[in-house]
Amino acid sequence: MLCLMKTQALQFLRQGQVITLPAIATDRTLLQVLREDLHCTGTKEGCNEGDCGACTVVLGEAVNGQLHIRAVNSCIKLAHSVQGQAVWTVEDIASTPGAGVSSLSAKVGIEGTAIRLHPAQAALVACHGSQCGFCTPGFVMSLFALYHTHPGQPASRAQAQQALSGNLCRCTGYRPILDAAQLMHALPPIALDETALLSKLEQQRQETYRLEADLAYKLPKTLPQLLQMRAQLPQAQLVAGCTDVGLWVTKQHRQLDSVIDLCQVDELRRVEDYPHHIAIGAAVNLNDAFAALVAQWPQLAEFAHRFAGLPVRNSGTLGGNVANGSPIGDSMPLLIAQGASVVLMAWRKVADKAEGKAEGKYRIVHRELRLEDLYTGYRSNVMAPDEVLAWIKVPKPSTRAGAGSLRVYKISKRFEDDISAVCLALDIAVANGIVQQASIGVGGVAATPVRARKTEAALIGQPWTQAAVQQAAHALRDEFSPISDMRASADYRRTVLGNLLQRYWLECQGQHAADLRLLQPVKIAT
Ligand SMILES: Cc1cc2nc3c(=O)[nH]c(=O)nc-3n(C[C@H](O)[C@H](O)[C@H](O)COP(=O)(O)OP(=O)(O)OC[C@H]3O[C@@H](n4cnc5c(N)ncnc54)[C@H](O)[C@@H]3O)c2cc1C
Ligand code: FES
Ligand code: FES
Repeated sequence: MLCLMKTQALQFLRQGQVITLPAIATDRTLLQVLREDLHCTGTKEGCNEGDCGACTVVLGEAVNGQLHIRAVNSCIKLAHSVQGQAVWTVEDIASTPGAGVSSLSAKVGIEGTAIRLHPAQAALVACHGSQCGFCTPGFVMSLFALYHTHPGQPASRAQAQQALSGNLCRCTGYRPILDAAQLMHALPPIALDETALLSKLEQQRQETYRLEADLAYKLPKTLPQLLQMRAQLPQAQLVAGCTDVGLWVTKQHRQLDSVIDLCQVDELRRVEDYPHHIAIGAAVNLNDAFAALVAQWPQLAEFAHRFAGLPVRNSGTLGGNVANGSPIGDSMPLLIAQGASVVLMAWRKVADKAEGKAEGKYRIVHRELRLEDLYTGYRSNVMAPDEVLAWIKVPKPSTRAGAGSLRVYKISKRFEDDISAVCLALDIAVANGIVQQASIGVGGVAATPVRARKTEAALIGQPWTQAAVQQAAHALRDEFSPISDMRASADYRRTVLGNLLQRYWLECQGQHAADLRLLQPVKIAT
């Protein structure tokens, strides 16, 4: 019987220095460690559930020899998940004199010395982008990530909005903050010393590459290690980006005594491109996973941006979204309509028939099933305790028999950083005016994400006409019995479903709903 220690050492880089904390409990968040152990209270706690962005910090990792920078919510990030990475907080980004920043950037005197603000900070000061100040550290860090992920390129308004999509300003100060995002690249530049940082990150990776049996927070680096740990510790909490699990800790006060974190498993960090499908590894974050989907289906770009906000997409994984199986999860209706499948893997003893030995050897076994067949009920699925969802396979548009026009509609109260009340994804193929194939995924209407099989049957073989689509819209409204909750009433959900099917038909005819964001105000003469 393994005896797991609930605390263990945590090491990461800050300001180029190695920070070592000898005994950090498995379920402490990065925000708690920053504020309570390192006394870095610049990073704020607002909602403690990934919604407001006040706790935003920036992480740096070496990925294929390149520095990979991303803004994340530290309130729902387990501290040990940043083992061996670089962490920047709002306290780390201003430089001291002589650090190579031109004197044109803003200067603020602190105890008689001058510090040079990072262009993200200087631009916020110049544009009056801070009012209450509580949310400001989070905005600064999202801007810092934008600055260093687009070096030397002025941000467009759309890029600025994307970068700040996970930050809330309750006093409506968005305009000056967006102005700052666009101004910062015009200020005297500052660059990260990537070479030095990459070498330190590599050193960290070597030093912190530990798999001792008694560690309670496990960070396997390879697929066999992950599967072996899962087989040995089926009761341990498997985590990926922790954007769901983090809330169980901060809001439900669940204790995680033993954790297996799959985010550093090399094999699962890849998106693989095959002639007929793409395979998205379970450790690929939502941002990169959606980028791979948008490369195949450009029409998904807006939907991709509407999934949570950027810091959540930078942490959360597509695998976690699918495995978590929330009935209002956004990616599953889409993946169902796309005909996606999941590959489950485990480390099991298998009799070697070829060698005629009954005893067998341990090896990786896998099975593949259609995504909609993963779920058995509300947040339950067919995965055995030793299984891991390893890959999501999505057939490419050109190679799928009968593939038509894929569209997805998300109905939520806010445009971004909000989960759907209803989500409908449709892929309907029409030839000679007759529906040949229909693939429809729905969220928000049942205990699990579902496939609308009755509606598909009602459409296939029918003429692709308004009258037939209206009939199918009735079938879609009748197919499910949604619940009423804070997001929407059951009636609303049913009504909207049918309406969305009719909207899909209209859009296929070349008609589009008015996009209110594109309307220009008209001056009325008085
Ligand atoms: C502010 C905010 C906004 C959000 N907005 C949206 C939204 O718009 N749409 C939406 O759909 N969701 C949204 N979410 C939910 C969340 O981001 C997603 O469900 C996310 O994809 C979960 O992935 P993760 O890697 O963080 O999973 P985790 O939290 O790490 O894990 C979730 C569950 O899945 C299991 N799991 C994870 N990976 C695997 C695997 N490979 N194999 C087996 N089991 C696994 C874990 O054990 C756990 O039970 C939001 C969350 C927050 C905090
Ligand atoms: S405190 Fe609100 S997102 Fe972390
Ligand atoms: S400046 Fe903090 S809420 Fe607007």
